Amino acid sequence: MAFTLPDLPFAKDALGDFMSAETLDYHHGKHHKAYVDKTNGMLAEKGLEGASLSEVIRAAKERGDKGLFNNSAQIWNHSFYWQCLAPAQGQKPTGKLAELIDQGFGSTTNLIGKLKEEAVGHFSNGWAWLILDQGALKITSLHDADTPLVHEGMKPLLTLDVWEHAYYIDYRNARPDFAEKVLSNIVNWDFVAQNLDGNGESRANQG
Ligand SMILES: [Fe+2]
Repeated sequence: MAFTLPDLPFAKDALGDFMSAETLDYHHGKHHKAYVDKTNGMLAEKGLEGASLSEVIRAAKERGDKGLFNNSAQIWNHSFYWQCLAPAQGQKPTGKLAELIDQGFGSTTNLIGKLKEEAVGHFSNGWAWLILDQGALKITSLHDADTPLVHEGMKPLLTLDVWEHAYYIDYRNARPDFAEKVLSNIVNWDFVAQNLDGNGESRANQG
């Protein structure tokens, strides 16, 4: 079965100036869609029809099939990313997530500062990640299409796309401004908290 482009979990104009409808038109409607279409175009020749998205990603990694890995991993990464975002309503981490953040980073402001540092310091294309590693929160980043699914012990909680296509329309080349605005205003902390169950992978999987 072919993979599909998941709908955005919010209206296209719901993120206001933090992430414009024009950015979402291109980033979701064209870039994310292209990863879906390219992956679908390869499944039959690779003998992977009927495999789930995470199975395709892991098979591509094992085979050293970069084309299939890059496209399929980007379907998953983007499907996860959209769910990490929500319209600005003053949302903050609560409950167990807030406790873990305080333990690991002292405060949500510090966590956002560290994530921003990781996002800004990441050379060229990639993704900044907040992950759960043996019960503790950790910040890291991965290059290009690389994804926590193929890294032992990396349970995905929150990600920020730092490919230029993620911010160029709204922020031009100002990645620090993009990271600051998004992380401080439109993170869906309820989704991040849900992922503390270790099942974040399944929330962007399909097939
Ligand atoms: Fe992207």
